[in-house]
Amino acid sequence: MPATVILGGHWGDEGKGKVIDLLAPDFEYNVRYSGGANAGHTVVNEHGSFALHQVPSGVLHGGLTAMLAAGTVVDPRALLAEMDELRQRGVSFDRFYISERAHLVLPYHYALDVAMEQYRAGARIGTTGKGIGPAYADKASRDGLRVGDLLDKSRFVHLLEGAVASANRRLASYGAEPVDRSSLVEESLEWAEHLRPYICDVERDLRRAHAAGRSILLEGAQGALLDLDSGSYPFVTSSSTGAAGACVSAGLPPSAVTKVISVMHAYMTRVGAGPFPTEANDAAGEHIRTKGNEFGTTTGRARRCGWFDAVASRYAVEVNGVSSLALTKLDVLDGLETVKLCVGYEVKGKRLESPPPSVHVLGQAQPVYEEVAGWETPTAGAGSWEELPKQAQAYVRRIEELMGVPAGIISVGPARSQTIVLSDVLG
Ligand code: IMP
Repeated sequence: MPATVILGGHWGDEGKGKVIDLLAPDFEYNVRYSGGANAGHTVVNEHGSFALHQVPSGVLHGGLTAMLAAGTVVDPRALLAEMDELRQRGVSFDRFYISERAHLVLPYHYALDVAMEQYRAGARIGTTGKGIGPAYADKASRDGLRVGDLLDKSRFVHLLEGAVASANRRLASYGAEPVDRSSLVEESLEWAEHLRPYICDVERDLRRAHAAGRSILLEGAQGALLDLDSGSYPFVTSSSTGAAGACVSAGLPPSAVTKVISVMHAYMTRVGAGPFPTEANDAAGEHIRTKGNEFGTTTGRARRCGWFDAVASRYAVEVNGVSSLALTKLDVLDGLETVKLCVGYEVKGKRLESPPPSVHVLGQAQPVYEEVAGWETPTAGAGSWEELPKQAQAYVRRIEELMGVPAGIISVGPARSQTIVLSDVLG
């Protein structure tokens, strides 16, 4: 059975949680493959609204095996708090597993994240402050501690003491407070006890599951345009958010993935710094922010909002081999007189059809817009394609044309019922 990747096609916050929740019943495994506590997936179901950060969205479906793969970074303190909160709301963790290979995010990574941002004067990334960059940097420099290290108490304490000493030297160089070693050692031994039952060789188990024909949903976090390699570097996150990253993280061969579903807003948002050619700092941008409730699930920060950027979106489709789109939050555009679509960039009079690798050049890009008619009739209550206003249909068709792939799912509100399924995206 081939594996399916569901990823965000923009800069994150596209509504992946809802789409994963919708498709989860078709899968036996749900694997989160990138990022850590920087993510925020909102799922609204019959039990209420759930804001998930590290736990894979599929955990809300009892029958599924939910996993955190090697390419994620695990913040034990935040994860245990999230699990506790979910348990209190009746969620079971009987079939939840964490990769031994995943790296740990520890309190000194948080402190370093904040300290490093302060020193990026003038060019702050606007990180979530969740220690993501420093944790992945430790991994790449081979100084990281892994989840599996928690299983051997005395070895872990030895490794942690060395890591804290090193982090404190780095913190001192930023003039930041050191992290207290002994309280961290004590706390981490408690984490080890609580997390022990969930830790295993997730990647081996996934390969076995794949060979046995089990259905696997690989869940991305953040978005394709925040990928460390193909995103708008340095205004990216520190993991491989793209479809290829899913295989690396989950220990599956690239040939395992045959479907890639890109979740895209019907517009664009971005949190943090970095070029955003179609940003709308006007009434339309405010309309999108307010109506779309575009405030961070993890940080509460107001998201930057703008028009659908077909240049950046098409790039994400191509890089990730996207097979179909899930277009979300179409209802947010209800009531706008006209809707704009960016179909090209212009830099110093030259037309670009693909985002330039340099953010410096991207920062100069002027969007070339197509303007289409908006719609008055609310889409929120539409239960089928035929019930969508003609103008909204035309807008969706134009996006499909520009992306070169069909929209299989259209979301017109947060509830499961507010979804129009146009084609079997898994078929
Ligand atoms: P970091 O991942 O905390 O290092 O932040 C790096 C960049 O990615 C910043 O611009 C963040 O705002 C952005 N980012 C990280 N996680 C998310 C997310 O889940 N949604 C949207 N943006 C994110």
